[in-house]
Amino acid sequence: MNSYLSVVAPGTGATTVLRARAVSKTYGDREVLKAVDLEVLAGEMLAITGPSGSGKSTLLHCLATIVQPDAGEITFGGLQLSRLAEARRSEMRRTCFGIMFQFGQLVPELSAAENVALPLLLRGMRRGEAIARATAVLDRFGVAEFAPARPSALSGGQAQRVAMARAVATDPTILFADEPTGALDSNSGARVLDELVALARAGTAVVMVTHDPAAASRADRVVELRDGMLEAPA
Ligand SMILES: Nc1ncnc2c1ncn2[C@@H]1O[C@H](COP(=O)(O)OP(=O)(O)OP(=O)(O)O)[C@@H](O)[C@H]1O
Ligand SMILES: [Mg+2]
Repeated sequence: MNSYLSVVAPGTGATTVLRARAVSKTYGDREVLKAVDLEVLAGEMLAITGPSGSGKSTLLHCLATIVQPDAGEITFGGLQLSRLAEARRSEMRRTCFGIMFQFGQLVPELSAAENVALPLLLRGMRRGEAIARATAVLDRFGVAEFAPARPSALSGGQAQRVAMARAVATDPTILFADEPTGALDSNSGARVLDELVALARAGTAVVMVTHDPAAASRADRVVELRDGMLEAPA
């Protein structure tokens, strides 16, 4: 865990680690997000569902500060992220957030271990130490034997576990996962979901975008994006 302070949601006793207030995003004439409010609690597994094109990835990218909302505010550890300089936001992403993208995540020229070591090297860790830690995290997700392998030599499920290892190598407060089971068969998907649930139980908040009902059923809480707004699913 890191040194950023968390705030306690009034009346609930649960600790809010990230809060989105009235977050809006428009692309062209399409209002993708319309004043979305969302809180992420410490150690919860939250699923964001919704039809294709409903804005799930856009919302996840806004929460993770990869995309700047047009309006609204994301607060993390009591800090309003839009008020921070980009350098500070980017440092926070590196230290507090882990991100599994929907498409094309692993660097094809690097081995699995080097991919996982990348965020550690970016944080200034020495190469030997970073590779050792990367190998340990790969081991935790059952893919240590693929440490020297290039991503092209991995199955979809193995690659997704390497991507998960990379996302959590820095021990983030929040893991953002965009369709982590989207390209996997049900067995590989179930295994990735087991790992995500285990991460949440160990205290990492997991924010997962998914259109997969099996994935959503593993979450502690499910919210649905419809017409740019978040609702509890029917
Ligand atoms: N960078 C961008 N520039 C322009 N339009 C964009 C951009 N990113 C997303 N959009 C548009 O915003 C809408 C929401 O896209 P988004 O990728 O967030 O949907 P999604 O719910 O994640 O879809 P899927 O389930 O297919 O992954 C779509 O209409 C998309 O075309
Ligand atoms: Mg998407």
